[in-house]
Amino acid sequence: MTNTRREIKPFDYIELFKRNTALIVTMDKSGKLNMMALDWKKMEEIEDKQVIRAQVAYSRYTYTLLTEGINEFTINIPSNEMYHAIDIAGSYSGRNTDKFQKTGLETIPGQKTKVPTIKDCMLSYECKIIQDSKSDLSSHHFFYGEILAAYASNEIIK
Ligand SMILES: Cc1cc2nc3c(=O)[nH]c(=O)nc-3n(C[C@H](O)[C@H](O)[C@H](O)COP(=O)(O)O)c2cc1C
Repeated sequence: MTNTRREIKPFDYIELFKRNTALIVTMDKSGKLNMMALDWKKMEEIEDKQVIRAQVAYSRYTYTLLTEGINEFTINIPSNEMYHAIDIAGSYSGRNTDKFQKTGLETIPGQKTKVPTIKDCMLSYECKIIQDSKSDLSSHHFFYGEILAAYASNEIIK
């Protein structure tokens, strides 16, 4: 962990988590990363587990990585200065674009996951997929990630 952020409890800053678009980071089996803009997300407690539910459409490369790549993801809420990344992450596909290269965003190795988090974000969460399910109501698939670690930047803690 860099000294620009601190570990928090998952539900700290829940309002900030809810009102901002996230960047979800996924990884293929060779270690190649992708990121995607994600609005449809929810933090909830299921039994004794604190979980983020990410809703991802079947057509996304992110869906392929979540089902065929590493069984983890990270959720990152960008700082205000990083908002250009949302446009790139939400309009290009990782199938043919390296979005880390295009945005210039850097990563921080996961403490609990192989998938890294994104540097300089307001909030970041390391998640391991514990369940996924098809939604009959939407064209999006639900991925439930148990939150193994959560971080907030010192900027928002102050
Ligand atoms: C602001 C914003 C929010 C988005 N939220 C979602 C979402 O919650 N779920 C989803 O499947 N796609 C969402 N998208 C669309 C994907 O981010 C977009 O299709 C992206 O290019 C897919 O990248 P990928 O093919 O690398 O996975 C959103 C796009 C934008 C711009």
